[in-house]
Amino acid sequence: MSYYHIKNLEQYFKHYNKSIREPRKFWGKIAEENFTWYQTWEKVMEFNMAEADIKWFLGAKVNIVKNCIDRHLSKRGSKTAIIFEPNDPSEEAQHITYNELHQRVCKMANVLREQGIKKGDRVCIYLPMIPELAITVLACARIGAIHSVVFAGFSASAVASRIDDSQCKMVITSDGAYRGNKSIELKSIVDEAIEKCPSVEKVLVAKRTHINITMKEGRDIWLQPLVDAASDNNVAEIMDAEDPLFILYTSGSTGKPKGMVHTTAGYMVQTAYSFKNVFNYEENDIHWCTADIGWITGHSYILYGPLLNGATTVIFEGVPSYPDFSRFWEVIEKHGVTQFYTAPTAIRALAKESLEYVQPYPLSSLKVIGSVGEPINEEAWHWYNDHVGGKRCPLVDTWWQTETGSIMISPLAFVTPTKPTYASLPLPGIQPVLMDEKRNEIEGNQVTGSLCIKFPWPSIARTIWGDHQRYKETYFSTFPGKYFTGDGALRDEVGYYRITGRVDDVIIVSGHNLGTAPIEDAINEHPAVAESAIVGFPHDIKGNALYGYIILKEIGETRDKNNVAKEINQLISDQIGPIAKLDKIQFVSGLPKTRSGKIMRRILRKIAEGDFSNFGDTTTLLNPEIVDEIKNGRV
Ligand code: WTA
Repeated sequence: MSYYHIKNLEQYFKHYNKSIREPRKFWGKIAEENFTWYQTWEKVMEFNMAEADIKWFLGAKVNIVKNCIDRHLSKRGSKTAIIFEPNDPSEEAQHITYNELHQRVCKMANVLREQGIKKGDRVCIYLPMIPELAITVLACARIGAIHSVVFAGFSASAVASRIDDSQCKMVITSDGAYRGNKSIELKSIVDEAIEKCPSVEKVLVAKRTHINITMKEGRDIWLQPLVDAASDNNVAEIMDAEDPLFILYTSGSTGKPKGMVHTTAGYMVQTAYSFKNVFNYEENDIHWCTADIGWITGHSYILYGPLLNGATTVIFEGVPSYPDFSRFWEVIEKHGVTQFYTAPTAIRALAKESLEYVQPYPLSSLKVIGSVGEPINEEAWHWYNDHVGGKRCPLVDTWWQTETGSIMISPLAFVTPTKPTYASLPLPGIQPVLMDEKRNEIEGNQVTGSLCIKFPWPSIARTIWGDHQRYKETYFSTFPGKYFTGDGALRDEVGYYRITGRVDDVIIVSGHNLGTAPIEDAINEHPAVAESAIVGFPHDIKGNALYGYIILKEIGETRDKNNVAKEINQLISDQIGPIAKLDKIQFVSGLPKTRSGKIMRRILRKIAEGDFSNFGDTTTLLNPEIVDEIKNGRV
């Protein structure tokens, strides 16, 4: 029996049970049957949770890019690997076949080697969503250089701290980037960043916007002439299973960003496996994940997961609102997209607009739609399900993290019955548990607690770059012997999981634990509300009280805000209980968000508390200007 593809619910439970009883046999068989290895492992896994020391496929030798590209060439050489959809819809899309991808990655790999990059060196990639981004990532992996992709929306100081932390030898960037009707001068951001980064020896520059930039003699080199001159004959590096594949920075609740280190074989096996099953991938599918490759979602489900399965994956340079709010639907029709994977924040933004943007598009090519990155509220779930999925495509609400490497809890399309706002069941190999404040495991169903994982899985990050102690403390010390996710979750009567939000977002009001997500769900059901965020603030009697920041829809402008506030509290009262009513409501025009769309609650909390002294690092905000507005409008 093969474990690679789960076809029905009965099989899911069978595979799941096997994966728990005999994890080594389960993953060993998947690894053996679905990948090519220079040499197989001596041991499937070894771990010590107390030391946060986890290893998979010990002793195996492999190259992930050989698995992503080379092994497909005999059967799928002329199949499209990457569809590049440019920002400007009038610019022609590109179709890159597996053969062409192979050639371009080999050339790029040779360029990197010629420029002095060796196995183990760190390369910072700061590029827009253009083919060169995929190609340079794969070229690094091919030669064993550790890629550190930094989202090309981060500011110079954020880039600098990331380059410096992992001592990157090289930066790969472009002259500029297009984003909707804006363009961004990426190279000048890099110039500013690396003033403070002595580790950087060379900067390779791709041409995209053709603006004038300054090239520093001896350091900066145009990429294309190097590629043109390079040979397409490249021998891949033989990597050890546990050699680092990449570093990806994620922000912690405190301190500087954490450089999560992922290693080669475990990441390869599990991203491929989860891609296949969550999206029910079949040979001729066209997969489109709208994330940026600068985030883990892009790493695992634009690049590695799809390519490992020999799939066709879409790389989209633009934004959902350009040239107008129908762009996503336009692109789905244009390329016959079968799997569409996006974030609740995008869904909510689109749901705010007129239905006329989506209704004219039949979207009949779609088979599966997915959500990732934050809890998807009930209203957004239904809008997505009804207007995009046409009530016929399973909506997979996928819970996972930068640290987990691949999807952990999610419906498997056409296998697991979906339930709105529920990430549902763990994938095989994943053992979630809920913990109470006394650090005991909570048994049974219809319970809530802190979400931990009690057994290692292949794609877990192995450490924080340069700071294993922090890795241990952040993830393995709160609940000894378990990996702590930082999220809270609820397990319903049938064992389905619903992620209720970060545990640090749980607010205790008069001794009652309240998750922010369900309250925000209730608020968002008000017809005038576009989006909301609630935080706790200290209260004399209740301990904490709730402060709501609320964005109204355009039509809400004409409403009496006092009435809306009353109606909102009535809704909360009806759905959750009077205990969850908001003490204070502030109407705002926007919320402080990170580039990946997450609300920076830390700032909202401080404002609610009336503490304007230190907002911490706001460099990762998409809209820093909103902070002053909110501060001035505090109620
Ligand atoms: C949240 C993104 C609810 C969660 C892949 C997690 C989610 C954090 C979901 C990780 C989901 C992600 N439902 N919450 N389906 N997916 N989250 O590292 O709080 O950018 O801990 O990884 O996003 O965010 P990260």
